[in-house]
Amino acid sequence: MRIDVISLFPEFIRESAALGVVGRAGERGLLQVQAWNPRDYATDNYRRVDQRPFGGGPGMLMLAEPLAACLGAAKAADPAPAHVVYLSPQGPRLTQARVRELAAMPRLVLLCGRYEGLDERFIEREVDEEISIGDYVLSGGELAAAVLVDAVGRLQEGALNHADSASQDSFEDGLLDCPHYTRSEAAGTEGVPAVLLSGDHAAIARWRRQQSLGRTWLRRPDLLARARLDAADRALLAD
Ligand code: ADE
Repeated sequence: MRIDVISLFPEFIRESAALGVVGRAGERGLLQVQAWNPRDYATDNYRRVDQRPFGGGPGMLMLAEPLAACLGAAKAADPAPAHVVYLSPQGPRLTQARVRELAAMPRLVLLCGRYEGLDERFIEREVDEEISIGDYVLSGGELAAAVLVDAVGRLQEGALNHADSASQDSFEDGLLDCPHYTRSEAAGTEGVPAVLLSGDHAAIARWRRQQSLGRTWLRRPDLLARARLDAADRALLAD
């Protein structure tokens, strides 16, 4: 999969995409992240990328022309059709289900806004989808783009090692993860639930599922209402 990110801070995008699981996906050739700077497409002597909005008021908008030229260059860099995403608090909130769908696309272009955002006409013309990563305002789209690159990158086939992928399963079905306990010389087994020391794999799986259900019930009842539960889950919840 290829992800092009358009940002006034391309170094942040490059550096964050080089870390951990996503960095490894890059090294394995499963994910290619390329950052583009609209400032490189500014045509005036000051390489200006902001502009005052019509109607006045505080704040600036990103200048449409360098952005459009930068987007054009990014799209033309690869023949695969690109799904263009604008990271903004005005979009629907990102979910794991949407992450899965985006991860299956061959190519994304992510637009990171700065200042007060982008010209509405540009959004209408160029953007396929707006996405918010939560109900709070960041000073730019870069952190949101890094979140999306990470969430989508780790789902590329072969990106996760066996050890990572087990912990992924829980949220995938709409539930919170169960608690985990590390093997530790200093702490020994004190405070570790006995079932985890029992060697009984069926009992351990049941306990983990019950913990997931219980935690979700306590902490995120909104998720539990939407989760797909079977009869065994309902029995564990009632226990
Ligand atoms: N840009 C600024 N705030 C944002 C948010 N909450 N989600 C996505 N992009 C943003």
